[in-house]
Amino acid sequence: MAGRGADIGVYGLGTMGSALALNLADNGFSVAVTNRESDWIAQFVAEAGPLADRLVPAESLEDFVAAIAAPRTILFMIPSGAPMDEMINAILPLLGDGDTIIDGGNADFNDTRRRFARLEGSRKHFVGMGVSGGEEGARHGPSMMVGGSEHSWQQMRPMAEAIAAKFEGIPCVARLGSDGAGHFVKTVHNGIEYADMQMIAEIYGLLRDANGETAPEIGARFGRWAQGPLSSYLIEVSAAALQTVDPETGKPVADVILDQAGQKGTGRWTIIEALKMGQSASTIEAAVGARGWSSEKAVRVMAEPLLPAGTEKVEIPGDDDLQAAMMAGRIISHAQGFRILDAASKDFDWHLDMAQIAEIWRAGCIIRSALLDELAEGFRGELPQGHLILAPIMRKRLQVTLPGLRRTLSAAINLGVAMPTLSAALGWYDTMRRGRGTANLIQAQRDFFGAHGFERIDMEGKHHAEWRPL
Ligand code: 6PG
Repeated sequence: MAGRGADIGVYGLGTMGSALALNLADNGFSVAVTNRESDWIAQFVAEAGPLADRLVPAESLEDFVAAIAAPRTILFMIPSGAPMDEMINAILPLLGDGDTIIDGGNADFNDTRRRFARLEGSRKHFVGMGVSGGEEGARHGPSMMVGGSEHSWQQMRPMAEAIAAKFEGIPCVARLGSDGAGHFVKTVHNGIEYADMQMIAEIYGLLRDANGETAPEIGARFGRWAQGPLSSYLIEVSAAALQTVDPETGKPVADVILDQAGQKGTGRWTIIEALKMGQSASTIEAAVGARGWSSEKAVRVMAEPLLPAGTEKVEIPGDDDLQAAMMAGRIISHAQGFRILDAASKDFDWHLDMAQIAEIWRAGCIIRSALLDELAEGFRGELPQGHLILAPIMRKRLQVTLPGLRRTLSAAINLGVAMPTLSAALGWYDTMRRGRGTANLIQAQRDFFGAHGFERIDMEGKHHAEWRPL
């Protein structure tokens, strides 16, 4: 390595950057490393154990760039937003033809498109790469969604494939399209992540508030679910979390956590971009909204004795129905997420391969689940109108799970337990499966008060009605 330079440079030794650098070193690559706070560098190398031999620490940006073999591949793991633009300004003068810089953070894909366009034609390349799987994934195998030039992909591919999670030996990384494609797909991944987390929380809420189950009991139930068709990382996480005890109080940790959820913005971006494209992903929207409502703790506490609760005492559905509800909701939230990807693919000319996206989400990422393998199969097979819920394999699943979703929701509605995301899933499903909807009345209303016009089912052209007066 000495004469040739490092295979790759990693700038930013926070949690994710350190883990990716060690993963690369573990896979035999030499890695130049640096960090804005230079005192982190020596400590990182000191803690790397035997992998330190493959790390090339550099304190200045100049030394860092010089330590990497040309054409260079440089991965930035730094906060998204302004810091990335500042880094590009600082590093560009030091780069040579064919060099690629990669932003591996959770960036807004609009920024990624702008940055890609800035470098386009300069013989230096910008890649936006979504990395999923948290610290553990980054260290031992993340799922990675790459957007950028074919040149950059060929350059980085051997390293990306080596460090990626593997599903039956297949690396969970791919170049999905140009410019912002990778970051966009990661954003939608996070939107689906929000919906899945919220649906699990809604079922937890039903069991806790209407069935009096304890956190460990619900955790044990989720643990069983994780062995079946619902098998997924997020169910496993929920099962383990609910069964964890707080050493301070001896209570389940979940019981002592304040019920206000944080968010960094990617779920919200999914909705914003969906709406801009005339799409809607109601399950993701409901999940983002639910995090927002959770922050209104004081109002909720005040409202509890003031506002009437559910009225009827009904039985909680059985375990099979609850699992079915979760499965139907999961299918629908994924279907909505993939619709957004489809719309964006057309708008931005990315030619996204939906089956490939489902495939690289099968391992390493936060939403990995047994369902994703079926979705990939669905996308590879017959897919009327490009719609996942119409794929034969999904239709079969929906047929058996929808009754459970309906029973779960009707119990929750009568008991006054909120299930905004699962309700949104059913609302969309029942809309999409009905040939004759109700938008005819919306059009009538629009024409009535605004003369907006409407199309008729029996005649061509635009029409107005002589509406009966109020
Ligand atoms: C992943 C995750 C990750 C995300 C966190 C936190 O795929 O590894 O999506 O990228 O940052 O899950 O997201 P929120 O703070 O918005 O919940």
